[in-house]
Amino acid sequence: MHLTKRFFTMNALAVLLSVGLTALAVIIFVAVYAKIFGHGADIDELKHAFEVRTGINEIKMNAQTMKFEQLLDKKYKEELSAHVRALDANAVIFKNREVVYSTRKFNDIDIEKSLVLSSNMPDQDTMELDGKSYVFARADYKLESGDTGVLLLLAQVKLKTDLYMLIGYFTIGVFIVLFLLMNFWVSYTFSQAIILPVARLKNAAVKISEGDLNGEIAEEGEGEVRELCRTLEIMRIKLKESIYLQQKYDDNRTFLVSSISHDLKTPVTSIIGYIGGIIDGVAKTPEKMDEYLETARTKAILVNAMIDDLLLYSKLDLNHLPYHFEKVDLESYFEDCVADHKYEYDKASLSLELVNELNESVLVLIDRERFRRVVQNILDNAAAYVDKPNGMVVIILRETKKWAIIEIKDNGIGIPESKLPHIFDRFYRADSSRSNTEGSGLGLAIAKQIVEGHEGDIWARSIVDEGTRIMISLKKM
Ligand SMILES: Nc1ncnc2c1ncn2[C@@H]1O[C@H](COP(=O)(O)OP(=O)(O)OP(=O)(O)O)[C@@H](O)[C@H]1O
Ligand SMILES: [Mg+2]
Repeated sequence: MHLTKRFFTMNALAVLLSVGLTALAVIIFVAVYAKIFGHGADIDELKHAFEVRTGINEIKMNAQTMKFEQLLDKKYKEELSAHVRALDANAVIFKNREVVYSTRKFNDIDIEKSLVLSSNMPDQDTMELDGKSYVFARADYKLESGDTGVLLLLAQVKLKTDLYMLIGYFTIGVFIVLFLLMNFWVSYTFSQAIILPVARLKNAAVKISEGDLNGEIAEEGEGEVRELCRTLEIMRIKLKESIYLQQKYDDNRTFLVSSISHDLKTPVTSIIGYIGGIIDGVAKTPEKMDEYLETARTKAILVNAMIDDLLLYSKLDLNHLPYHFEKVDLESYFEDCVADHKYEYDKASLSLELVNELNESVLVLIDRERFRRVVQNILDNAAAYVDKPNGMVVIILRETKKWAIIEIKDNGIGIPESKLPHIFDRFYRADSSRSNTEGSGLGLAIAKQIVEGHEGDIWARSIVDEGTRIMISLKKM
């Protein structure tokens, strides 16, 4: 729920709950009051008021069955007087608006007022006389002589103002206390949902501004605050990633610069040497000159290839090269690869063979061009590190339930166990004294980058003097 909505809902709830609980408290209070003080003054009072109303009404009804003259009968007047006294009420008999009998003395104004008010209002209502409330009942008579007669019964309503005042104070007091408590509850809930998480967010933001990006920002609080936490956490992760990438980029550059300068130095030095030889006239015959130039050219081509490798590795490492994946039939793809390298291998008197152990045709998602680079680097190694006259390389295609496994096996010099884990590292050469020093040590590092770009895996098994097996796994489609 949005915070604004929640804020209004909780405040409305606080008011409603305060009102509801106050009402409940008042009911309980009255009940307890009634229990402690017997049947309760208020209840007695109500009962009494009811009795009085009924009483004067009965007298009125009885009087209405009689003639007006009978009311003036001495005996009836005594009876009437006793009756009303018992009810703590009064009776007044009028003839032509003149008082002819009264159980109590009222002043003239009240008498006049009572006559006017009782004729305008229905029975049983109350009227105010001399600042006091009265319930009344009135019976009207029309005499044969044309005169009018009235019997007016009046009973004072006595209210226990003390109790009502007490209930009033109690209600106001309870409401104030409950309302304060509810407000405290609303404030507390909001401080838990907003203020505390915001304070923690502030600390996290201060840490980030100081460069500490390791503190995870927990999602807490509610509504917008929770969203803010999430956004800040995403921001922190992105910032961390970009700093990591920047650092990696810097490291890479430093590493590549130092490696380039080291690895390029040898061929460049020999290029300088051969060209210097020509300039200085060391190559005297045209044949010698050609030989020097040809060597310088070969070295320059090598330098060029090394620079290409470096650039490719660097781009792969920074994920700057997009892949163009397509569905490819594994067997036909490797048949093409073998055909591509056949000439080169034949020239070096090496055999290259493809063995298909797949149960049926297997499709994989690969970027044809980039994956060709993987195969080429591995086949180049196999050819370069073969020391036997009957050098042979076999590509074996296998499968598991989910994976296609490509094994490229040679019978070359092999790699010592201790060096095996490093051959996929950049610029690593297992045996620089024996191996072809012309390599940059990037071939397998590039292969690993590309295979991982295909969400596959690459690893090696090797036995010294027996040969090496490079294995690649790719997800089947
Ligand atoms: N088939 C193999 N047989 C024996 N050793 C190998 C084989 N393949 C790789 N190695 C070892 O692993 C090292 C790393 O190979 P990688 O292809 O990365 O570099 P490189 O061949 O030295 O240079 P580059 O391929 O860049 O020209 C090699 O120097 C070599 O010592
Ligand atoms: Mg290589």
